[in-house]
Amino acid sequence: MNPQLQSLQPYPFEKLKHLLADTVLPQTLPAISLSVGEPKHAAPQLVIDTLVQQIDGIAQSSGLNTYPGTKGIPELRQAIAAWLARRFQLPVMPDPERHILPVNGTREALFAFAQAVIDPSTKQKTNPSVIMPNPFYQIYEGAALLAGACPVFLNCTKENNFTPDFSSLSDPDWQRCQLVYLCSPGNPTGSVLGLDTLKTLIALADRHDFVIASDECYSEIYADENQPPAGLLQACAELGRHDFKRCMVFHSLSKRSNLPGLRSGFVAGDADILQQFLLYRTYHGCAMPLQHQWASVTAWNDEEHVLDNRRQYREKFSAVTEILSPVMAFSQPDAGFYLWPETPIADDIFTRELLATQNIAVVPGRYLARDTATGNPGEQRIRMALVAPLAQCKEAAQRIKAYLETL
Ligand SMILES: Cc1ncc(COP(=O)(O)O)c(C=O)c1O
Repeated sequence: MNPQLQSLQPYPFEKLKHLLADTVLPQTLPAISLSVGEPKHAAPQLVIDTLVQQIDGIAQSSGLNTYPGTKGIPELRQAIAAWLARRFQLPVMPDPERHILPVNGTREALFAFAQAVIDPSTKQKTNPSVIMPNPFYQIYEGAALLAGACPVFLNCTKENNFTPDFSSLSDPDWQRCQLVYLCSPGNPTGSVLGLDTLKTLIALADRHDFVIASDECYSEIYADENQPPAGLLQACAELGRHDFKRCMVFHSLSKRSNLPGLRSGFVAGDADILQQFLLYRTYHGCAMPLQHQWASVTAWNDEEHVLDNRRQYREKFSAVTEILSPVMAFSQPDAGFYLWPETPIADDIFTRELLATQNIAVVPGRYLARDTATGNPGEQRIRMALVAPLAQCKEAAQRIKAYLETL
């Protein structure tokens, strides 16, 4: 077996299951889950309609007898390129032939990308590293380890506004680096990287020859309608870097369009890297079913449902903040659907007692981060995903408040 498998940590939800195994739930209170980051708003009807029409048409025309191509249909790549140009004000539209690749959700693509990019031989750089935020989406760490690289964590704390401090790394640190994962808007912190930070990182990538993988899957859920989060391709465009050299973004319909079950996302950026990644994926065997591709075209072409989605999250943030801000410390996230509040006692004990007394499930912050020399940035915090309907989110906030008042 691949010995690197031994270095993988259990997924946060495995740890959570273990933590809560013996918990006796209160019989009188219905369960409310704020633990899993899975959108619960309705999937857009127009996407469902396309999916149903397509599966019907494809089945009747024997389309199910054909393998879909890994590169995806031109119509989907065209819709994605046009969306990117509109959303990130790109003066030159990315070339759908060279700059765009549909993927079956960004999770698999974020993982696979490191396998294609990392050169684990020590010919060029000793001990290749992958730099990532901490707390993080655990796929980045597993992807780095299985690619034969060493994960390097940059702690995102209140003191640095929950963003990685790239200036804390030395030249030798950068020399080892082959890949940087960004997560903006951040999971779980909701913080957004500004264009200046992105441009600084691009300059560092040029100087030290590494690739930037920017996970932007929460970019369409944001608080201020006039301030959509910036993206890495936008930073490239502002630098006149229309080839997106060394830069790759990852976007998904899962959160934007409430379609986690469709498994649809895309990777876009540097054409040379993408060509190699396509080669890797051809062997990997990942191709999106045709009916999902057509449904995705409908989703990327529509913004109405995305606007409505943001409105619903805004309502929930405002209601929950009103209830919890007098009793809990947290910053308002710029984007995403998580709250990342501080806990007055250890986060794992808080999580267990909250479930036992109030039947509310959350995730202890420490399960979403790693221990480092300066501590675990998830300690004394919990992640609350405001994915349940408004009434349930309000009810959950009231119960959390009631629990806090007993401490
Ligand atoms: C930060 C982050 N990136 C990527 C993903 C993967 O999303 P998907 O595979 O549905 O596109 C998730 C899912 O929760 C996430 O939280």
